[in-house]
Amino acid sequence: MAKAKSYFFCSECGYQSSSWLGKCPECGKWNTMQEEVVQASKPAAAAKSRSAVGGSLPKLIREVTTSETQRIATRCAEFDRVLGGGIVPGSLLLLGGEPGIGKSTLLLQTALRIPDRRILYVSGEESEQQIKMRADRLDNGDQATAAGTHDKPSSDLYVVSETVTQRIFEHVEALKPDLLIIDSIQTVCTETIDSSAGSISQIRECTTEFQRFAKESAVPVLLVGHITKEGNLAGPKVMEHIVDCVLQFEGDRNYGYRLLRSLKNRFGSTAEIGIFEMQGDGLREVANPSEFLLSQRDENLSGCAVAATLEGVRPMFIEVQSLVSSAVYGTPQRNANGFDFRRLSMLLAVLEKRCGFKLGAKDVFLNIAGGLRVSDPAIDLAVCCSILSSNVDIPISPRFCFAAEMGLSGEVRPVARVEHRIAEADRLGFEKIFVSKYNARSINKKRFGIEIVEVSVIEEAFRSLFA
Ligand code: TYD
Ligand code: MG
Repeated sequence: MAKAKSYFFCSECGYQSSSWLGKCPECGKWNTMQEEVVQASKPAAAAKSRSAVGGSLPKLIREVTTSETQRIATRCAEFDRVLGGGIVPGSLLLLGGEPGIGKSTLLLQTALRIPDRRILYVSGEESEQQIKMRADRLDNGDQATAAGTHDKPSSDLYVVSETVTQRIFEHVEALKPDLLIIDSIQTVCTETIDSSAGSISQIRECTTEFQRFAKESAVPVLLVGHITKEGNLAGPKVMEHIVDCVLQFEGDRNYGYRLLRSLKNRFGSTAEIGIFEMQGDGLREVANPSEFLLSQRDENLSGCAVAATLEGVRPMFIEVQSLVSSAVYGTPQRNANGFDFRRLSMLLAVLEKRCGFKLGAKDVFLNIAGGLRVSDPAIDLAVCCSILSSNVDIPISPRFCFAAEMGLSGEVRPVARVEHRIAEADRLGFEKIFVSKYNARSINKKRFGIEIVEVSVIEEAFRSLFA
């Protein structure tokens, strides 16, 4: 047995060095080198990894046959949408998310639904009994809510509680699954190196082993990954380079919904998002987020405006609520929930300076209903109109919506994919949509039943709404 040796690894980029360094020469970060005990990996393993890549000869691209049709559909429309139509054979996927957000629930639920496939679910965090208890909850829910749409889940799901990769591969050898799920990469370890599970070198080595396995056997592997305090995937950046697809599961824990985004996808678009709602019996797919995000409100409430935003390529209609009141203290208060605070200050300055609305002596509170964080600039016009509506205390019809960005001189600016937004507004039964004049030029208005209001400066919107 080789003598145990220790190396220093950069926790940012995975750079390896035999001595401690204050600054990583690879990525330039300070204080990121951490010591780990590593036993030199066996030469046989290294040789094997080389042959795995070098095993094939160059081919003409037109002669390479693709197997697009063989994607494993997960039967979960939202999950499939994010993946780009199902799981590609031989791919390595990483699902990241904060603890308790629902990663295990999502994967277990998906595994239970995939029909006619043999699936191995390896958990390093829960025992078989605990997985079964969770599955029972999900299973019951599925049958109750979707009795008509899904027949009884018919997948062969095997569960095992195991943390050593060599053992996992033994199980795989014996079982020959069509899909392997590892919950989570931080809890598994390989015997070829000595450091503890969850350390940088272990994560890197295990990820590489699973990648090699996936490529050689064409069995897709789904890894669960933890997220650090800063919101990054725990582990070295190299892990994200190795995997084919990085999915992130996120959401506000105080609200029920969860967004599944793809940050990297070698086999599909990263613009798609999946929306779920966490319920007592598992995750429910949300096919129409707008109906869900728009509150059923009375006509006579001032300070509300609906924004036609996009998350990736998916239209989402979001309600913006503002409250403008006279400042009680010397300094007026501003607060924004789900919206960039500095952007709110900027919009207020624009309304104050360029358009002559006296907001300097007012408290302004802004809230994006539903607990979402919106970064699409197309929400600007809705934010401005909701503030003005609260300021003059005149409600905006809930059947109006807005899609435009605001410029520093009070001009209403065009936004991306405006036809997409208009089509969705039309479909949802809105009466009017306010867009920038510069956007409206390129739109074929006859296509839509909805009235398209073109504005070029904020005063025009103000006059049209409140005059
Ligand atoms: P879990 O999948 O264990 O999270 P992760 O694997 O990302 O750490 O989900 C845990 C949370 O989900 C937990 O706080 C409870 C909630 N939950 C439900 O609300 N309903 C359910 O049916 C299940 C299984 C979990
Ligand atoms: Mg979990």
